[in-house]
Amino acid sequence: MGNSSIGVAVIGAGMAGRAHVSGYRAASTMFDSDLPDVRLVAVADAHKPFAVDAAMRYGYECAETSWESIVDAPDVDAVSVVVANDLHRPIVEALLAAGKHVLCEKPLAPTVADAEAMVEAAEKSDLVAAVGFTFRRSPAINAIRQQIADGTLGKVMHFNGHYWCDYGFNKDAPMSWRYRGAKGSGALSDIGSHLIDLGEFLSGPVESVPVCRSRRGSVLSTLIPDRPIPLGTAVGHAATVALSETRAPVENEDVVTFTATFKNGTVGTFSVSRVAYGLPNGLGFEVFCEGGPLRSTWPGQRSSASPTAHRQGSCSRHLPSSSRSPASTGFLPYQLSPTACTTSGCSKPSLLQLTPTARTLRCRSAPSANQHLPQPERNCR
Ligand SMILES: NC(=O)c1ccc[n+]([C@@H]2O[C@H](COP(=O)([O-])OP(=O)(O)OC[C@H]3O[C@@H](n4cnc5c(N)ncnc54)[C@H](O)[C@@H]3O)[C@@H](O)[C@H]2O)c1
Repeated sequence: MGNSSIGVAVIGAGMAGRAHVSGYRAASTMFDSDLPDVRLVAVADAHKPFAVDAAMRYGYECAETSWESIVDAPDVDAVSVVVANDLHRPIVEALLAAGKHVLCEKPLAPTVADAEAMVEAAEKSDLVAAVGFTFRRSPAINAIRQQIADGTLGKVMHFNGHYWCDYGFNKDAPMSWRYRGAKGSGALSDIGSHLIDLGEFLSGPVESVPVCRSRRGSVLSTLIPDRPIPLGTAVGHAATVALSETRAPVENEDVVTFTATFKNGTVGTFSVSRVAYGLPNGLGFEVFCEGGPLRSTWPGQRSSASPTAHRQGSCSRHLPSSSRSPASTGFLPYQLSPTACTTSGCSKPSLLQLTPTARTLRCRSAPSANQHLPQPERNCR
């Protein structure tokens, strides 16, 4: 990667991949102007229409159908990996081996062993490797974190958080990779990973959680046992895809609650659901500190634009919400926190914190002012 430009590619042009594709294009509007140009090189998706559409819409030079072509591309310096979780490890390892900087979506991997191998590969390289814990980029959450760090709020005693979504509420929401995999790879992995990361962002590392075997303090429940198989390729939660008559079993949890103890003694209580009727994206938490409680909620309605955070009691205040929301920054850049929060069974605690490595993906550059017209049908390599 030279100083004058950085070539970027996105693997996966589904729901979140499109936000990455958009984010690289918008980088120049979010960051300072003394940065190298971002060359929008390629979008890859196994479903060609998705790759072509994303490349055309956002002005990328080419569309690919295999992630291996991105690994082999000499003009790509940094890559977002935005595909189903079980593909993260092989793709990230191949990208690192090829000398590419990597931004991998959360959760890092479906198993602790996979996540540890990925962290090891990243640490052995001199490359930037990051994971997509979006909420770390929230100004409101950073203001809370600052007030904890500077002592304004005092020691954190209790972190209580929920992440309640309704993308799986409809029993006829189509079967997808999100509903397949061992217990812990469902709601806990998909959205609970954000909440756990937030807890650790504010209170430091989690030290212990109840072990699965005893089930004390933790519940993982599958409430909708099967879902219809889609007839076409679905994006994200895929409400609009046509469905077949055949249903397949849901393998992982719809709802999970658990408790945890943080290293600094903070008590953690967590509640996560993908079947929470009426809440498209309902994240909220309280941090109870020696100096008082503080609450932050993301409005769950699709029409609500910004989060709010306020201190409870006589002195309430708004903390900054901003156009620099995770979505508008296109997920750039993320703080690296390689956390695996799922298990592949019940032989391990339901949550394991890996070695945090404080590196930040520095894809802060601006796209070229003179974008070429997209030619995504062209076979680039
Ligand atoms: N940070 C966040 O807030 C956030 C939000 C949503 C999703 N995510 C994460 O992003 C990832 C993708 O989620 P999504 O909702 O976009 O999924 P999705 O199903 O909408 O998209 C996945 C895309 O990958 C493509 N794909 C499948 N196999 C492929 C292959 N071998 N090579 C290239 N492309 C392939 C599919 O065709 C699909 O378009 C997941 O890890 C998810 O947890 C993160």
